[in-house]
Amino acid sequence: MRRGGFDPLFFWLITLHYKLLYINKSEHGMGLTSQDGPAVWSSDEWIAYFKANANRLLTIPWEVEVLLSPEERALIAGSLPSWQLGESSDGVRLMASAQKHANSTNDPAFVEVMRMFIKEEQRHGGDLGQFLDLADVPRKSWDWGDAVFRRVRHLVTHMELSCLVLITVEIHAMLYYASVRRVTTSEVLQRICQQILRDEIPHIRFQCERLAILHHGRSRLLRWLTLTCHRVLFGGVTMAIWIGHRKVLRAGGFSFGRFWRTSWAKMGHAWQMMDPLKYQWANPGLLALGVCRDLR
Ligand SMILES: [Fe+2]
Ligand SMILES: [Fe+2]
Repeated sequence: MRRGGFDPLFFWLITLHYKLLYINKSEHGMGLTSQDGPAVWSSDEWIAYFKANANRLLTIPWEVEVLLSPEERALIAGSLPSWQLGESSDGVRLMASAQKHANSTNDPAFVEVMRMFIKEEQRHGGDLGQFLDLADVPRKSWDWGDAVFRRVRHLVTHMELSCLVLITVEIHAMLYYASVRRVTTSEVLQRICQQILRDEIPHIRFQCERLAILHHGRSRLLRWLTLTCHRVLFGGVTMAIWIGHRKVLRAGGFSFGRFWRTSWAKMGHAWQMMDPLKYQWANPGLLALGVCRDLR
């Protein structure tokens, strides 16, 4: 420490001390959890949602011929097959994470929720694959971005990490498919993108609610550390997606600055949605599981 001055480390330690002792105490001792906010959906509610969604899908006009200009074909062929591959994951590791999570929270119905979620993602992969075949654009069987995400999911079968990886991809998927929808003249691809965009909004909510459940009861300091790690991951993925798919994103109206700002704004909203303090924890289903407190 400098003579007559204050070392920045001293201030950092004081701040850490404050966070550990005061914030943690105030959060749990004084009840900062929202009593007016929404409750997270139970597994039964999510099953009902996925069932209803499967019955109200947009009609894809497969009978319309797929005719792409050479420029459009070049854009799509250089990018869409990677996303198609990512959407087509078999979900085996994700189901293993879900099974472990269902066991630890005594919520067996959660396994079915995850199965239905994976089915929706596979529908996206199936529709995109069918479009690529009709357009005579080769599918991919390997992609470096997809390989990295699969590797991460294979290494750690933990629900929290799975949700973080999924939400990171889904936020960028919203911007990507919105770009493809603007770029393409194909009615078929426009409708597929429209359906994917409709599905992804509840998917993001699904991941956020699960993370809120997993973060519930965690100290604010620990949540801050978790979100800091997620910010680093998110920044890296945002850069990687721009590098890999910038041609489509640019054609869809995103400069790098706009893509960066919009990604972070959407993720900022998701971070708010995964804040357990925003929810009231009075859901009888979750109370029975012992993963939340009764505030009634
Ligand atoms: Fe998807
Ligand atoms: Fe999704």
